[in-house]
Amino acid sequence: MSLYAIGDLHLHYQSVLKAPGQLHDRVWKNHEEKFRKNCGKLLTEEDTLVLVGDHSWGKNLSECELDLQYICDLPGRKILTRGNHDMFWDVKKTGQLNDLYRPHLTFLQDSYETYQDYAIVGTKGFTFEGPFYLDRCGRIVDWDEKEEIHAKKLVDRELLRLRKSFELAKADGYRKYIMFLHYPPTNILEERSGFTDMAEEYGADQVIYAHSHGESRFHDSIHGVFRGRIYHLVSGDFLRWKPLKIL
Ligand SMILES: [Fe+2]
Ligand SMILES: [Fe+2]
Repeated sequence: MSLYAIGDLHLHYQSVLKAPGQLHDRVWKNHEEKFRKNCGKLLTEEDTLVLVGDHSWGKNLSECELDLQYICDLPGRKILTRGNHDMFWDVKKTGQLNDLYRPHLTFLQDSYETYQDYAIVGTKGFTFEGPFYLDRCGRIVDWDEKEEIHAKKLVDRELLRLRKSFELAKADGYRKYIMFLHYPPTNILEERSGFTDMAEEYGADQVIYAHSHGESRFHDSIHGVFRGRIYHLVSGDFLRWKPLKIL
């Protein structure tokens, strides 16, 4: 019995949209088939797979049906968190999604799930992604301050949602946590953030995130041990479509 994670599948069985790199990078070629095969080899029905957002390019639920069916057909229990491209998933209608896909998929939002004595907590998160202005040597010399102010508002909202997830688990007696985000826990300028602080406050053992795909983005945020927590990037192309074993 194991816990696995991956993100950014960007499925598009009913959509022509593609992620950057999805058109020409070899790693994306037949990625649905590569991932399905890897899951078939690694996962059993006893395992849990957390998919940390950017599941589908579909603009609404009817455009995502085949993508979600693909996820339903993977082995084991599947828990989904939201990514920035998941237009089919209105936060206020998370209950309806859960009703529709129970018992095959669990959509985690303002709630928590359990794995053994761990609580699986999470939210989409948010990071300021620029624009950053560079000098001739490629060093960051400035950034868009308006965008930064806007990002701070979104970060605050996501921190409230994350706290709710932690608090619900804590109220039910859970003291061990794995924290899942879609966005990286920090932007490229930050060493720590509200998200890393919250991971420390509640004592999350691990922080799992995605969203950074394409080789130039793989090192946008933290990898490995940072201030006592373990951070893992699990974007699909970074993992070469092999889900990462978390526990
Ligand atoms: Fe993505
Ligand atoms: Fe994303």
